[in-house]
Amino acid sequence: MAHEYPQVEPEFAALVAVVTGAAQGIGHAIAEELHHRSAQLVLVDRNAAALAAAAEALRKPGLAPVHSAVADLAHPAEIIALVARISSLFPHVDVLVNNAGIEYDMPFDQVTAEVFDRVLAVNLRAPFLLSQALAPFFPPAGGAIVNIGSIHATHAFPNAVPYACSKAGMMALTRNLALELAPRHIRVNTICPGYIDTALWDEWVRSAPDPQALAAQTAAFHPLGRRGLPADVASATAYLASPASAWITGTQLVVDGGLTIRAHP
Ligand SMILES: NC(=O)c1ccc[n+]([C@@H]2O[C@H](COP(=O)([O-])OP(=O)(O)OC[C@H]3O[C@@H](n4cnc5c(N)ncnc54)[C@H](O)[C@@H]3O)[C@@H](O)[C@H]2O)c1
Repeated sequence: MAHEYPQVEPEFAALVAVVTGAAQGIGHAIAEELHHRSAQLVLVDRNAAALAAAAEALRKPGLAPVHSAVADLAHPAEIIALVARISSLFPHVDVLVNNAGIEYDMPFDQVTAEVFDRVLAVNLRAPFLLSQALAPFFPPAGGAIVNIGSIHATHAFPNAVPYACSKAGMMALTRNLALELAPRHIRVNTICPGYIDTALWDEWVRSAPDPQALAAQTAAFHPLGRRGLPADVASATAYLASPASAWITGTQLVVDGGLTIRAHP
């Protein structure tokens, strides 16, 4: 009896996409979306067990290969080792999605130098170092780097100083890399998601005094009437990674259900 395989789109056929923070949440949804469009994948995460399970969940007979590489992107040496592993798997990289990110929810006067540095190391320095190290592996035709930022980059929320600074820095990183990589036809853009229902979100809601009220309130904040899903970010990422956005570089795409366009709650 013939097997039924999911229908795939050939948009990224023969292309290689590296997705960081791909073990869960938004990163996993991005990997799934790119794989559905026939990309060959290298999934990266520091959580080895979750990464192995995430890669296995994507592998299907007849579909493009899915590789995984464990790395803690907070450490530059691990980024160097990661790039060596990626280059041993594929001779080129066509898409890099810098998605791995961390957040500490704490008032500014409790933020230590260590917390600040850790958030910046993962959310900002790692995307820079990985983009820098992988740029030589993009083919002459170029490719795309998509950074996953946040609406925190442009709007203030309580208890988020290091995170907001890291995501604002990512917008500057995007503009500057876009300029320097344009001659090599590598486009660089950022997506700024609003509230997306993932583990990061769950953790934040659970820590609130009234989680149910907070969940309902944050859905109602959105002109489109709901919080986002990882798939909302994934489809926007696929757009910025694909030739459909060939004339777009150095900018950001807000994916927030209209949250940040309201003048009043
Ligand atoms: N969830 C949201 O509401 C939301 C909103 C805006 C932006 N974002 C951004 O989207 C991205 C993904 O968020 P998410 O909600 O899916 O988070 P998540 O916590 O569910 O997943 C993040 C993944 O990154 C990995 N990771 C974290 N630090 C790492 C490191 N040092 N090295 C390697 N891997 C590491 C984790 O192991 C995890 O698998 C983040 O950059 C986050 O800032 C999320």
